[in-house]
Amino acid sequence: MKYFIYTYGCQMNISDSEKIAAKLKRAGHQPTKTAAGADLVVLNACSVRQSAMHRVLNQLHKFRNKKIILAGCVLPADKNKLTAQNIAFWHPDDYFSLTPLRQNKFSAFVPVMTGCNNFCSYCVVPFTRGQEKSRPATAIIKEIKTLLKNGAKEIILLGQNVNSYRDKKTDFAQLLKKIDNLPGNFRLNFITSHPKDMSDKLIKTLAECKKLVKELHLPVQSGDNAILRRMNRGYNAKRYLDLLKKIRRAIPDIKISTDIIVGFPDETKKQFQNTLKLAQAAKFNNAFIAKYSPRPGTAAAKFKDNVPADEKKRRWRILDTLINGYEH
Ligand code: 5AD
Ligand code: SF4
Repeated sequence: MKYFIYTYGCQMNISDSEKIAAKLKRAGHQPTKTAAGADLVVLNACSVRQSAMHRVLNQLHKFRNKKIILAGCVLPADKNKLTAQNIAFWHPDDYFSLTPLRQNKFSAFVPVMTGCNNFCSYCVVPFTRGQEKSRPATAIIKEIKTLLKNGAKEIILLGQNVNSYRDKKTDFAQLLKKIDNLPGNFRLNFITSHPKDMSDKLIKTLAECKKLVKELHLPVQSGDNAILRRMNRGYNAKRYLDLLKKIRRAIPDIKISTDIIVGFPDETKKQFQNTLKLAQAAKFNNAFIAKYSPRPGTAAAKFKDNVPADEKKRRWRILDTLINGYEH
């Protein structure tokens, strides 16, 4: 059959689509350039926000006459609602360990772990991808060696929470060291880190690794302590800012980016001001700002989504202007 893959959401899904392509090739299917020319359409879905999932569901209607594989981050409750005969479901675990069909020779995503045990109260990831699973360090190193041999110049390690990577005695800092020590001229980068798990050992390693790009994505989500507590993030504003200080002392020219959610349930104007204050103090290089959307099954879905849509938009604009510098 001829197939076409739609990818939604994060870098992990972009990387996973290369693995889905490998699985389809193994089954004897060939890619086409347009969905119209395909018999089989794969939707590699993202459930992190309701809007992303809406886009996926709209596509399902469009492809009523084709065979569909729904892959990626999908909530079990959403799967159960889809009973049409033409839809099959693939869980990320069905392709996570496959060798991907690479699209780009120079830049490669390399997943090191998937899943998450943190249960931030707003987040679906622990429900869609399940528990944290780390890949064996030997398999990761082998894959990177092959990529470098084939001309890769940039390696980007992926995981929902790379800091909790562990393979027997190898933790994330040791894995970085091993990769950094590989011969060759390449850049090394990774996403995403959790502030509560940024150890002194890891900061020291970041400063020592020569191939590491001096960039760190460190989602803060909010600058208000009560909201952070209700998000179940495991740190407060002061601890986050102290951590930034420590990181910048070790790596003075590092660029720090972040994720922030505005309009979390019950977020008052005063609490939003605390996020603005933190953003000012943190001097982020850029931020992905999201308007809160309730996700079924998460702990926060039990709170009322009571910040009105236009107020979320207003907070989003103010923060985006402050951090990313765009005038709205
Ligand atoms: N609503 C809005 N944004 C969310 N994110 C995760 N869950 C939600 C949600 N329910 C954002 C967080 C996370 C990024 C990947 O998506 O900021 O870091
Ligand atoms: Fe979601 Fe929190 Fe895990 Fe990130 S750390 S994937 S926000 S539960």
